[in-house]
Amino acid sequence: MRFIVSLIVLLSITSSILVNGFMIPGMAATNYNEGDPVLITVNRLDSPDTAFPFEYGHFDFCPLEEYDNDPSENLGEKVFGDRLHVSTIKTKMNVNITCQQLCTKHYNLKEEASAKAVDIIAQAIDQEYLHHWSVDELPFAEVGSDDDGNEEYYIGFHVGLRDDTGQDGVHRYVLNNHYALRIDITEEPHRIVGATIEVFSIEHKEAEGDEISCDSPNPQHLFTRSQKDSPETYDIIYTYSVEYVPSSTPWATRWDHYLKVKRNEVHLFSIINSLVIVVFLSAMVGMILLKTLHKDIARYNKTDINLEEAEEEFGWKLCHADVFRPPSKAMLLSVFVGNGVQLFLMFFISILLACMGIFAPVNRGYLITGALVIYVLLGIAAGYSSARLYKMFGGEKWKTNVLMTAFFLPGTAFVVFFILNIVLWHRESSNAIPVGALFELLGLWIGVSAPLCFVGAYFGFRRPTIDHPVRTNQIPRQIPPQPLYLKPIPSMLMGGILPFGAIFIELYFILDSLWSHWVYYMFGFLLLVAVIFVLTCSEVAVLLCYFHLCSEDYHWWWQSFLSSSSSAFYLFLYHIFYFGRLSSQRFNGFENGFLYFGYSLIICYLVFFMTGIIGFYACFYFTRKIYGSIKVD
Ligand SMILES: *[C@@H]1O[C@H](CO)[C@@H](O)[C@H](O)[C@H]1NC(C)=O
Repeated sequence: MRFIVSLIVLLSITSSILVNGFMIPGMAATNYNEGDPVLITVNRLDSPDTAFPFEYGHFDFCPLEEYDNDPSENLGEKVFGDRLHVSTIKTKMNVNITCQQLCTKHYNLKEEASAKAVDIIAQAIDQEYLHHWSVDELPFAEVGSDDDGNEEYYIGFHVGLRDDTGQDGVHRYVLNNHYALRIDITEEPHRIVGATIEVFSIEHKEAEGDEISCDSPNPQHLFTRSQKDSPETYDIIYTYSVEYVPSSTPWATRWDHYLKVKRNEVHLFSIINSLVIVVFLSAMVGMILLKTLHKDIARYNKTDINLEEAEEEFGWKLCHADVFRPPSKAMLLSVFVGNGVQLFLMFFISILLACMGIFAPVNRGYLITGALVIYVLLGIAAGYSSARLYKMFGGEKWKTNVLMTAFFLPGTAFVVFFILNIVLWHRESSNAIPVGALFELLGLWIGVSAPLCFVGAYFGFRRPTIDHPVRTNQIPRQIPPQPLYLKPIPSMLMGGILPFGAIFIELYFILDSLWSHWVYYMFGFLLLVAVIFVLTCSEVAVLLCYFHLCSEDYHWWWQSFLSSSSSAFYLFLYHIFYFGRLSSQRFNGFENGFLYFGYSLIICYLVFFMTGIIGFYACFYFTRKIYGSIKVD
């Protein structure tokens, strides 16, 4: 126990130093002097309607700056499909620009390439793709207002708008070709504390001389070949303006505007509500269980004193000579537990660090990078726990055990991930992991995680074998027929439903932020929900384990693991339900579905391991406690 605790402390410190020191440039404030160049970066474009983000360069917008020093993405950003480039917008700190030409695009619809470029942009408008620009790590947001008239920030801005109001049923594409940037800055030394954008569609007059005006009231249409009234050739002029507005927002709270999303406050209440119910219910279950157990133990120990007949024995005491009999497939179970421990600790340490504000909330790349680093370092915990368990089960093939622990879960997840990437590569989506990052991942896994796992296993095997409180008989006891609700599948399904019920409101927000690109930031809440989840999971597992033992079924090792991990099954059902909601909002097509379910499968697969160990360790602790407290002759 002490080993695990000190390991966690050590890992959180090293990973926070690693993540903090090397990977999060956004943590330190950048100071600008008057007139310093300010870089605007563009990221991939995405849409809530599809699973395919595309790089900026996939579209025929204004060309990007040939910049040797492109901002480098961290590993998490690469995995998540972020691609950063520098825009050609030239701006200097605290120098306002009113109307400046960015570039001009000529289109000739008779030419194939030109017509295709227009079609791609038109399609992006159709599917409501969003630009993602940022300055000094701060994303540009459109400011809107909610029902109560409060300011709300929407990150990103639309490529354009489809105008269906024309009579003849023809779509007209209104292209946003004027970007009005507004950057909030502090007093000297200037720091950037806000970034908002307004986009307009302006049909620019032919530029006369150098002067261009952004005053035209007519929108700029994007003409495609399929439109009847399209001119054969036309120009699109992109323009921008930049305003630096003094602001009193301190640098430390510059994210707050983005996170003040009213929508979530409304749901806060319902989350709290469900949490209260869950806490109350599980407290009750726990108390009843404790009381019954105390009674049982008192009775068992009393019958012993009175030296009554052996037939008086009943309930879970009957299993004392079998309860610690090693399970079948002990190897697989210890591998599952090792992998589960690694994931579980990664999850908790990452959320803890996120709660402490180590990861900038709007950029999920940092969180993912941090989680990956922590996961890799935790290879040591996986090896250790798997080895100790395997040794306790009396296993002898320790080499196989170590290798399987190091390669089983990452290997299988990697294969699925790779298949998904083939689809993404095929669509040329920016979500496809670049080959370099793929090798980085492989390197981290084989070069760091696996060796650490071997080290952990070495220490695990060197420790003395875990002693059981009661001895195991040579001959296994016959198990009587079980009632229906204690048969494997029903009891597994029961084990997952309550914990799942405890968290499914929060799940809605997590899935929304994954698939609809909302910012997820309520890590404090997530931690709370996770703790509640662990509590309910272990309580339900212990309860089921108690029922099993009472009806003299001592095969609890696998049952405890699987009863908790069945929440992964409910999670998958929930994903299907959520897909129904998404696809009703035009998120459809075979490829979208394929990707969606591919990612969902990976997530549920990981959750399977993470939740399994909760039930496993809870029951392990529980059986050791109860059998340790009765007297057996
Ligand atoms: C830039 O424009 C903003 C808003 O119009 C104004 O408050 C600010 O003073 C201007 N800055 C300069 C340096 O003129």
